[in-house]
Amino acid sequence: MKRLGIMTGGGDAPGLNAVIRAAVKTALALDDCEIVGLRDGFDGLIEVGGVRPLTAESVRGILPRGGTILGTANRGNPFARKVLRDGVETTIDVSDQVVAAFERLGLEALIVVGGDGTLRISRELHEKGCPIVGVPKTIDNDVGGTDVTFGFDTAVNVAVEAVDRLQTTAEAHHRAMVLEVMGRDAGFIALHAGIAGGADVILIPEIPFRYEPVLAQIRGRARGGRPYSVLVVSEGACPVGGEPRYRITGDKDFVSRLGGMGLEIAETLNRNQGIEARATVLGHLQRGGSPTAFDRWLATRFGSAAARLALQERFGRMVALRGTRIVDIPLAEALQAPKHVDLAGDAVLTARNLGVCLGD
Ligand code: F6P
Repeated sequence: MKRLGIMTGGGDAPGLNAVIRAAVKTALALDDCEIVGLRDGFDGLIEVGGVRPLTAESVRGILPRGGTILGTANRGNPFARKVLRDGVETTIDVSDQVVAAFERLGLEALIVVGGDGTLRISRELHEKGCPIVGVPKTIDNDVGGTDVTFGFDTAVNVAVEAVDRLQTTAEAHHRAMVLEVMGRDAGFIALHAGIAGGADVILIPEIPFRYEPVLAQIRGRARGGRPYSVLVVSEGACPVGGEPRYRITGDKDFVSRLGGMGLEIAETLNRNQGIEARATVLGHLQRGGSPTAFDRWLATRFGSAAARLALQERFGRMVALRGTRIVDIPLAEALQAPKHVDLAGDAVLTARNLGVCLGD
């Protein structure tokens, strides 16, 4: 009997449970196999009690649930694992232990659901001989090789609801309301939510911004009888010649966490006569809660396709959405380059045509 594993790694995204459910149901339907779930990402391979059986019963009812029933970790890189040695934090390479765990656990395939960091680790483990299949996930939508990642649609919907709510309070108080959304290196959430919510200013990491056009937009609206504006700002947006803002500083093994640009922009706007601004940081609200129908649909198709790949022993590959079709591509191809907003694409052009200020 085949033994398959599944794990979720990195920051969570709505739809992880839908992937797990679909992978388990598909594998059980197609093969006489046993499926185990790893707890908290790759840690599950090396920690005691890190593996639990997954059955049709254990995935029942999880389709609409946010988070992940398996747990996740974004500090779980086996090539640089943090440990305490004599009270001092240090990093060690435990990748050989991870490779050995496949043998020890009798795992013939592992489905890894993760973003660029987790998929990069997966590719390295595959190069060391581990039978891995990847499923791309991130609310930021910036994994290469796939048109869309699940979790993104839910995040955009949460952000659009916030924009709608900020519109009414902005109008009531004649204010500029700044909404900071997630998006480390790519501005997809800000761009999509900004357009869908009718924002007046959208600032994304791909376009370094200047305050002059932003102020001109706010003042122009006021002169036109609309003395209120809504600005949607990616956490990774940055002024020309300026620096991104961080809420947690990383180290050599942990990527810094962005945050604070929305507040900085509101404070800068407040220094200008006649403008009153407030900032809202949407943060992890974008990652929690029930996935939208689109994310459930995409995550379910990804999970099912990943189980088929694993059973066919087509390892080192990642499922992806291309147009309306689910395909599979080499992990290396997906990791070639992260995805960014296409500055020459129709979404950016549409924003400009609608009179949205993009800060340039
Ligand atoms: O990569 C997804 C993401 O949501 C980024 O947009 C954000 O910067 C980061 O994760 C936040 O991670 P954490 O959960 O560590 O705060």
